[in-house]
Amino acid sequence: MASTDRLDQIENEALAALSAADSAVALQTWQGTYFGTKRSKGALDEAMSALGGLSKEERPAFGKRANEVKQVLTAALDARAQQVKEVELEASISAGAIDVTLPGVPPTRGRLHPSTLNLRRVKNIFARMGFEVYRSPEIETDEHNFGLLNMPDEHPARDMWDTFYLDQPGLVLRTHTSPGQIRSMRELGADGTQPVRVILPGMVYRYEQVTARSEMQFNQVEGIVVGRNITLADLKGVFVEFAKHMYGGKTQLRFRASYFPFTEPSVEIDVYWGTATERDRMITKGTGWLEIAGAGMIHPTVLRNGGYDPEQWSGFAFGMGPERAAMRLLGINDIRYFWQNDLRFLEQF
Ligand code: PHE
Repeated sequence: MASTDRLDQIENEALAALSAADSAVALQTWQGTYFGTKRSKGALDEAMSALGGLSKEERPAFGKRANEVKQVLTAALDARAQQVKEVELEASISAGAIDVTLPGVPPTRGRLHPSTLNLRRVKNIFARMGFEVYRSPEIETDEHNFGLLNMPDEHPARDMWDTFYLDQPGLVLRTHTSPGQIRSMRELGADGTQPVRVILPGMVYRYEQVTARSEMQFNQVEGIVVGRNITLADLKGVFVEFAKHMYGGKTQLRFRASYFPFTEPSVEIDVYWGTATERDRMITKGTGWLEIAGAGMIHPTVLRNGGYDPEQWSGFAFGMGPERAAMRLLGINDIRYFWQNDLRFLEQF
């Protein structure tokens, strides 16, 4: 075999292999095979080792040819590398292609629960009338939930609330926010010397049949005003003002005589809903009116339990269901939606 035949052979093989190499990785392997790596010799280096065995006459031609082959292969590698790079770029672009004509994916945003939004609205309305927010516990003593509200043990009026009792004796989940009347009068009234004007928003619990108009858990907003000359007219004025801001000017309110052990006289406050549909009649029990609050003048016994002398002081209290109140406003005709956590409902607010 002529001394340069091996070089020709390497050149042909290498060029063929090069045109088959179609990725950066394949090119690197190719380079290792022919030019060698740090750790191993390539085919060209091996061919060069033949130089030592050649005659003086043969050497220049071999050397020249060897250089040629190196140059050819280096140039071919550069050209091929450029091609491969373009192809790979093309492939990665079309793999990650974005169709700009497709509709966008809206990012999901956190939002406030409709009930929270509504409570804020209610609080704001009362804040404008000078009411502050007072917090009282959801786990209550039997004494606060009933006893101090003029319902001693065995009082039949306790049956007005279906109560969740805790395992620990003497404790209940509050059935209404009214126990906060006692707590706020005792804390803020300073032994019956200071007036009180607060609202108490918060969750209450009842062991109830769940229906479109009643849930087992719901918020109430209790309101308490104690002062020197508070009358039922003040209660009425506050509610008319509330309704004006909650629903707008035209909404009709109705005050109905009622009974609560802790108020005397007692009323229930209804807002007009209508009777147009079957649902309207169901939610209003056929009357067209939806009850949104119980209220009345604080009973002298309760005032006394709060630290006041009922001869000197008087007050009114109300307990409103803000979800009930909002149903009318938001056009929700089933109170169960509030706590079902169905995103189709929640995302509408
Ligand atoms: N606590 C009563 C209820 O939950 C409502 C109420 C509050 C009535 C304050 C009168 C005064 O039904």
